Amino acid sequence: MCGIVGFIGRQQAAPILLDGLSKLEYRGYDSAGMAVYDGQKIRVEKSTGRLKVLSELTHDGSTMPGTVGIGHTRWATHGEPSDRNAHPHCNTEKSIAVVHNGIIENYMKLKKKLLDHGYEFISDTDTEVVAQLLDYYYKKTNGDIIDTITRVMHRVEGSYALGIIFAEHPDHVYALRKDAPLIVGKSKDGNLIASDVPAILKYTRDVYFIENEEIACLTEDDIRFYNIDGEPIEKTSRTIEWDINAAEKGGYEYFMLKEMYEQPKTVRDTLNPRIKDGQIVIEELGMSDEEIRAIERIHIVACGSAYHTGVTAKYIMEGLARIPVEVDLASEFRYRNPILNKNDLVVIISQSGETADSLAALREAKAKGVKTLGIINVVGSSIAREADRVMYTWAGPEIAVATTKAYTAQLIAHYLLAIHFAQVKGQVTDEEVAEMLTDLKAIPAQIEMLLANKEHIQKIANRYVGARDVFFIGRGIDYAIGMEGSLKLKEISYIHSEAYAAGELKHGTISLIEEGTLVAALVTQKDLYKKTLSNIVEVRSRGAVVLAVTNEDNTEIEKNADYVIYIPQTNKYFTNSLAIIPLQLFAYYVSVGRGCDVDKPRNLAKSVTVE
Ligand code: AGP
Repeated sequence: MCGIVGFIGRQQAAPILLDGLSKLEYRGYDSAGMAVYDGQKIRVEKSTGRLKVLSELTHDGSTMPGTVGIGHTRWATHGEPSDRNAHPHCNTEKSIAVVHNGIIENYMKLKKKLLDHGYEFISDTDTEVVAQLLDYYYKKTNGDIIDTITRVMHRVEGSYALGIIFAEHPDHVYALRKDAPLIVGKSKDGNLIASDVPAILKYTRDVYFIENEEIACLTEDDIRFYNIDGEPIEKTSRTIEWDINAAEKGGYEYFMLKEMYEQPKTVRDTLNPRIKDGQIVIEELGMSDEEIRAIERIHIVACGSAYHTGVTAKYIMEGLARIPVEVDLASEFRYRNPILNKNDLVVIISQSGETADSLAALREAKAKGVKTLGIINVVGSSIAREADRVMYTWAGPEIAVATTKAYTAQLIAHYLLAIHFAQVKGQVTDEEVAEMLTDLKAIPAQIEMLLANKEHIQKIANRYVGARDVFFIGRGIDYAIGMEGSLKLKEISYIHSEAYAAGELKHGTISLIEEGTLVAALVTQKDLYKKTLSNIVEVRSRGAVVLAVTNEDNTEIEKNADYVIYIPQTNKYFTNSLAIIPLQLFAYYVSVGRGCDVDKPRNLAKSVTVE
């Protein structure tokens, strides 16, 4: 998705903008640009391609002097990737420059109105319409900027995070948002705006989160906020605890590997604050025991890997707490007019907290008056702020597009919720809870041990860099693990892969199994061993090569698998946290072996903030 940065202060803006944009590259983009006020006029430079192209074009920003500017990396939504569609966009006189993340859904109607008023357009973007609309209202209000901006806010429909500079007000940068991320940072050398924290961490930890339909007005020494009616509002800043390395690679070749190796810590960080004196304490839940006991159904709604944790959570919540659970893809849920009852709980899972489909699903649930809980990684993100309650996964910034540490942190949140709900409902004894907490506390060290096994995984992976189709099969929680293993492989290595409920293979898909087809079999659910084993025999008899991931005491499987990866003993409900580690490593090494861009896979973005 697009990345926005802005600066106003006592330093040259362009180098700061380029540096900030480089920290947002992970959001996925196809062009980049900057607008800087040079003392007389607004200078704009932009181009398709990687940020390097813009840096070379501007000699690392040195050909764009000035201390006020905005920058942008564009993920094309309206208008193909091209120089003319790259941001920033300006009004005709180039006295207003705009950078935008989001989609203005009524831009065609607004464009027609502006064309009728004699405006011309050089791009196909919705953002240029915003630039011209600002011009239209700037003239109409005789240059009253806040009035101009609020009028635009009332006219546009859709989502936006906007950075704006006006040539006639060169001592200000303006920022506003609705349903797209934008933060404001206060530093000793000036003030900044950005789509995400990594872009400004180098300059400040003092951050303001702009709420929906709020405006920030930055000068080099001050930041003021207004609401959509132009009324001043007070906001307090928050201190970002992330250390600067957390947003850098820290010596690993890729962010993905770094983040995989952070999992022992991030699992611990998500778990430990919620276990006090042997009891699960989820303060942020804000639900009384009565409210928990009154829950009739839980709807877990998410996208991608977050959805996969929901599939795992269904087995655990139903198994432990005996509360019916439905798991939905957010893109389906939001348009299905879901049947929700007042005693239901809707749980939205999202690493970024900005996924458009998941945010829309949250709003659909709230519109139906149902209690909502977010399991979110990015503090202060849209879903985190709009959900009734939020349970953060303390995984820190996840830069690689393919999620790993946020995924395993989400699993921990699910385990804690399920055990807590089960305990409140009297479905588990204190002894069983104590045992499960012991198993949970062992997970970080067990992950560490599995990560140490990377050479063994790498050897297997190197044999499959040329694979055409790979299948992941399993039953129960093992099926959910396979879903995530499959997504990891295909999204970073571009090899076709799919996860299948092992018992479903014979209903069609087994016809695809040929001599040498790799089948990863997840076999961690003891009560299903024999069933899954029969599926392994089925595929092997048709020529498949089987990579089994199973519990360390299940050596029986060696007779029926070509490769076996063992995971340490843990509670049957927690095996996903361990079995996923070799699958993450497998996907990573296949991707590296194929020379793919592991952190920034083609066609993908870290956070899908548009439909
Ligand atoms: C997972 O590796 C992908 N990056 C993707 O499926 C992701 O999980 C999905 O887009 C949901 O993102 P979110 O957790 O930020 O909402």
